Amino acid sequence: MTHEKINQKYLKKIKLFQKYNKHYYNLNKPLVSDQIFDKLKFEILDLEKKYDFLHHKDSPKISVGFKPSKTFKKVKHSIPMLSLNNAFDKEDLINFEKKILNFLNEKSNFILEYSAEPKIDGISASLIYNKGKFICGLSRGDGKEGEDITENLKTIEDIPKNINSKDFPEEIDIRGEVFIQNSDFKRLENKFANPRNAASGSLRQKDPKETKKIPLKFIAYTFGYEQGLIAKRQNEYLEKLKEWGFKTNPFNKTIKTVDGLMKNYSAIEKKRGELDFDIDGIVYKLNEFRLQKRLGNVANAPRWAIAHKFSANSAISRIENIEIQIGRTGALTPVAKIKSVNIGGVVVSNATLHNEEEINRKDIRIGDTVLIERAGDVIPHVISVDLKLRNRNSKKFSFPLNCPSCGSKTVKDYNFTTKKEDAVRRCSSEGYECEKMAIEKIKHFVSKEAFNIEGFGKKIVENFWNLKLIRLPQDIFKLDFSKIQSLDGWGKQSVANLQYSINLRKTITFEKFIYSLGIRHIGLENAKIISKNLKSLKNFISLSKKNNFDDLINIDGIGETQINSIKNFFKNKTNLNVLESLEEALEVRDAEIKKTDGLLNNKTFMFTGKLVNMSRSEAKSIIEKNSGSIVSNVTKKLDYLIVGEKPTSRKVDAAKNLNVKILDQLSWLKMIK
Ligand code: IVH
Repeated sequence: MTHEKINQKYLKKIKLFQKYNKHYYNLNKPLVSDQIFDKLKFEILDLEKKYDFLHHKDSPKISVGFKPSKTFKKVKHSIPMLSLNNAFDKEDLINFEKKILNFLNEKSNFILEYSAEPKIDGISASLIYNKGKFICGLSRGDGKEGEDITENLKTIEDIPKNINSKDFPEEIDIRGEVFIQNSDFKRLENKFANPRNAASGSLRQKDPKETKKIPLKFIAYTFGYEQGLIAKRQNEYLEKLKEWGFKTNPFNKTIKTVDGLMKNYSAIEKKRGELDFDIDGIVYKLNEFRLQKRLGNVANAPRWAIAHKFSANSAISRIENIEIQIGRTGALTPVAKIKSVNIGGVVVSNATLHNEEEINRKDIRIGDTVLIERAGDVIPHVISVDLKLRNRNSKKFSFPLNCPSCGSKTVKDYNFTTKKEDAVRRCSSEGYECEKMAIEKIKHFVSKEAFNIEGFGKKIVENFWNLKLIRLPQDIFKLDFSKIQSLDGWGKQSVANLQYSINLRKTITFEKFIYSLGIRHIGLENAKIISKNLKSLKNFISLSKKNNFDDLINIDGIGETQINSIKNFFKNKTNLNVLESLEEALEVRDAEIKKTDGLLNNKTFMFTGKLVNMSRSEAKSIIEKNSGSIVSNVTKKLDYLIVGEKPTSRKVDAAKNLNVKILDQLSWLKMIK
């Protein structure tokens, strides 16, 4: 099936899902039974798993049955629910304090006291109490007008419904954050992108019974309208909240001076990974209500408070385990399994440790508290280890000396270019003998840039491998489709589609074929060069049959590293078997024959020294346009050595010895007129 067809099929299901959802949640009149609804939901999730190009904002992955209803009653807030300005570093805090002192007309020696409250990343809510009774609860909405979500809020245990304390105000609008704990979120991970979405989805259910299914928490931190509140300071108010039966943030602190705030900030940031709720910064509020009143608001944020944000793309967490993954070329990549942490809205539980050297250099150990960074689509990685928090009996991580998949020895190559040992340790098996490598090699074989077998994704490779349907690339062309049709999740149509896309690739260009083999150091570019020069699979295979790799030596762009890698590839019996079987099963099209009517046809050239008014690339392209070819070594096969300014005398001498013609730039250009 083409991408387009799959997408059409997917969108049809999403549309139906939207319809069912609307009837169920917004209109309260389900169209179909729960079973049919669930079946559709799983079909969509299944498609998304199989084809990672499928996405939709209304996918059940993001919104399973939690589409916010538009039918909540709108209610005006008695006092607007403000937002906060942000600070990102010490300088921002110094400015914040300066502005306050200016406004209050105080000198810099006037000591300001703050309530520092870790900022929970949830959904704010306003709870209106009258004579100790919870009568109405609103969402923030646009800050001026919220939605009446009283019944849903009533399902939250942390929200007291009746308060009898003598000093509880006659009337008060207590405000705070509704959120979901990370440990509870774990159970819902498949349905929502992050805990905040889960809390929001749950809170805005039409049916409070649905809200109740997701354990929400509430932490109180401020108030709107009040009558009869006796507290004079924010920290006193927070104490009162506790006495009245509300939960407050256990890490709230009263702090003086910017230096004090910075110290607390680092301490909380370090604890961040251990908390069971997500925080995205710390809110600082001037402690004295009297001063808060004087300062008032600008636009829709108070002058007396600020949110000191944590950097959005890093977070602190703990390494629970270090696993070793094995890649297609045998590279052993250590991966840290970390305690799940929300980094800029994405829940992260894995971080790459790159390679053995990186682990050693940073001395990363299981149990360590680490700073994790996630930037863009790059895999999250460990920035640093907090050595102060390291457990005394922690042990240095010992990197496996044998491949965890096949047990072969692991090795570190010597890099001829950098003249150093590689940072990466590899499984010494050539390939298909190591299970993990074999799976990765097959994934590479079917991938987009290689055979590009549509619908044959990574998941299917793993699945077929586990079912022993494939062990080597050629098995793909011998699949028993009737057997596949009887498997879970496969039907007549999907099998027909798979068969179709496999058959489509039984003809392939030589260059794609070489790339698909996944020979180390032979990427797309090198595969192209080899294809252009060797022209056919026959010639490629005959390299190994003759055990003569000279044809490769003269190819410009192919160096010692690549040649050694190809030699190693041919040394392995399984690789030879793969090549032969594929040659039999497929039609590998020869590289297109170059134009041969140019003036330099059949002639080989090499350059040494700097050319006048012309780059090397231009010179090469001129030769190729005229049907000549470039080589990178002086051998008997070289026809002309073109000598520019300051040539390498070694090359000139070699050419003289082999009777290779030597030309200067002008004579060469005369050849092509
Ligand atoms: S006070 C006038 N205190 O942060 C002050 N807000 O960007 C506004 N938040 O919508 C609220 N923890 O959802 C306050 N301890 C805390 C908070 C807090 C989290 C959220 C709240 C608000 C947003 C402001």
